[in-house]
Amino acid sequence: MSEKILTATSSFAKFDQRAMDLFRQADMEVVHNPHGRKLTKPELIGLLSGITGLIAGLETIDREVMQQSDLKVISRCGVGMSNVDLKAAEDLGIAVFSTPDAPTEAVAELTLAGILSCLRRIPTMNQDLHNGQWSRQNGMQLKGKSVLIVGLGRIGQRVAKLLQPFDVNILIADPYVEDEANVTLREGLERADIITLHLSGGECLLGEKEFALMKEGVVICNAARGTLIDEAQLIKGLESGRVSSCWIDTFADEPYSGQLRDFSQAILTPHVGSFTRECRAQMEYEAAYNLVQALRTHRGGAVHT
Ligand code: DGY
Repeated sequence: MSEKILTATSSFAKFDQRAMDLFRQADMEVVHNPHGRKLTKPELIGLLSGITGLIAGLETIDREVMQQSDLKVISRCGVGMSNVDLKAAEDLGIAVFSTPDAPTEAVAELTLAGILSCLRRIPTMNQDLHNGQWSRQNGMQLKGKSVLIVGLGRIGQRVAKLLQPFDVNILIADPYVEDEANVTLREGLERADIITLHLSGGECLLGEKEFALMKEGVVICNAARGTLIDEAQLIKGLESGRVSSCWIDTFADEPYSGQLRDFSQAILTPHVGSFTRECRAQMEYEAAYNLVQALRTHRGGAVHT
């Protein structure tokens, strides 16, 4: 009997068919996310009936979801694992995969766009002009600024490389690989003009204490995970001017409908770090490949990144 799989991401195979070809060659029956957005937990549980392989997006895949399913393999189309209960997967013998390399370039490029948009206020002026206002705003140059990159994984490293030609002072803090960092988080927060987060963890990294250390007028960028920033503190920072602007692509609750939307100096994008044609195609192909291989030789409980 052929395996039945679910693609839970909102736009699977929109730009490239190579992943679907793999499923066809492996004689797998494919069910797509019918909602075109992130699935809720009840929707996911409902769709998982009879499914053994899941191409996972950002939906919550916890123990309850797994226990109510016949899943053998979860293959994340992406790098972050904060939405998957890895311990539960291990306990239940479900193999878990991710595509750690594919999103690097797209997320790093968008981070650069986020930083430059904050410094030059491009979105605000664009909106003003669309609304009939010719309002020329002074921004800031990137050259000469101190940029703190928090997280020295693939994306953090690539951001550092892309920033080099701008003649910036690059500070690197990583609470998990302190040997490779050139500042502690505390030093970095005290010295940075721009802070950009590239950690995968779900714990809050920038709370009240950390905001108090930051320079007046700091720019904050987050394309990693929304839970890394205490949003109430970010809002306080925007109100007081300690944070001059921010670019936020990831939110603790997605889709986002919170208070940051009230601040024109908060540039908000809907978790699109990996959303380039090239990146989606690559991630989908790798996720499909991982899924097909794993279902062929199912060995449960291992995490492969
Ligand atoms: C990732 O790869 O984890 C991105 O957040 C998009 O899913």
